[in-house]
Amino acid sequence: MSDVDHYIHPLRIRDLELPNNLCLAPMAGFTNVAFRLIAKEVGGCGLVATEMVAALANPGTQNENRFRILTQNVAAEKPLAMQVYGREPDYCAATAAALDAAGADIVDLNCGCPVKKAKQSGCGVALMREPEQVGRIVAAMRKAVPNKPVTVKMRLGYDAQNRTVLEVAQAALDNGADALFVHARTGESKHGVPVDLSGVLAVKELAERFAGSRIPVIANGSLDTAEAIRAAKDLGRADGYQIGRAACGDPWLFRNLVADLTGTPRHHPGYAERKALLIRHFELILDLFGEERGVRVMRKYTFFYCNGLPGVRKFRDRFHRIDNKATFYALVDDFFDHLSSGGLDHEAVEHLTLFEKGDAAAEDHHE
Ligand SMILES: Cc1cc2nc3c(=O)[nH]c(=O)nc-3n(C[C@H](O)[C@H](O)[C@H](O)COP(=O)(O)O)c2cc1C
Repeated sequence: MSDVDHYIHPLRIRDLELPNNLCLAPMAGFTNVAFRLIAKEVGGCGLVATEMVAALANPGTQNENRFRILTQNVAAEKPLAMQVYGREPDYCAATAAALDAAGADIVDLNCGCPVKKAKQSGCGVALMREPEQVGRIVAAMRKAVPNKPVTVKMRLGYDAQNRTVLEVAQAALDNGADALFVHARTGESKHGVPVDLSGVLAVKELAERFAGSRIPVIANGSLDTAEAIRAAKDLGRADGYQIGRAACGDPWLFRNLVADLTGTPRHHPGYAERKALLIRHFELILDLFGEERGVRVMRKYTFFYCNGLPGVRKFRDRFHRIDNKATFYALVDDFFDHLSSGGLDHEAVEHLTLFEKGDAAAEDHHE
């Protein structure tokens, strides 16, 4: 079997056929329709996901504008997973049904978010301590969305002392889950902690005993190189790979991972291509949020697109201060014109740390 078949291949979740098994991870504040569409247009990504949507009794009517922004989607990005965050089975079921109606191809349950608020309210990673509750939620979501895949995204446990992933996976399977996403860390581990692929392997073996090859297990956690993906397959027997942070700085990542794993040449976007994609992304963000909010939302993406390029440090503060469309275009022109004219080429390529420092807030507030 060639690498292309072994590591990268189409993936079936219930009746849904994904074109390949590289998936974009849900990320609050990032994976809106604009970002997902860019990932799809650049290529290599088999499944995109919304950020988590809080479970409510009447999700489409309570907090309507937020719901609209979180769930807005377009045909070109499909297939699309939408994620429920909550703990009350009835609310999770109502929200799953609303996501189904809004165009989800998969509804997923969040059992991984480790922020304080999630832990205090018994949501996210706190559910890893309550396998039976996970079972009740999955059963309710299953009933509310009978015709589409229901999946669960979990961690290895609440913390190192409570590695309950097998109990939670079993409860999910017993109540009708169609696939399991496993972030191979426990709830107290920071993103820098190495992933533990033995946890993925244990879940895979459990799913296999339960239903043969019918229920895919998709690994998550720092799978941003071909080497990491090979390890997820070779050590964790993962059927697919879900990628989060690394995709934020690099829309070409999925495509290049496919290239690396299939022995085909990588794509190295030049400055012009990078700039064109940044502008396309901005225009999609404007459509979604309007100018005032859109330019604020775009600051972090702009920085990501330019990170690693010569001279980015000098522009860093200016990226963070963009407050209208005109400043955005002027700054982007300025930055890229310098690059294309070679004006900054003498400088070393500068990689600023993204989530760890540059966007610590994002990591603090979401998983
Ligand atoms: C800013 C940010 C927001 C996130 N939001 C969510 C979320 O809404 N739902 C979820 O299940 N995981 C969320 N995650 C976790 C990611 O989906 C993923 O599990 C984690 O980042 C590890 O994968 P990575 O190493 O590829 O980034 C978030 C992560 C980050 C960095």
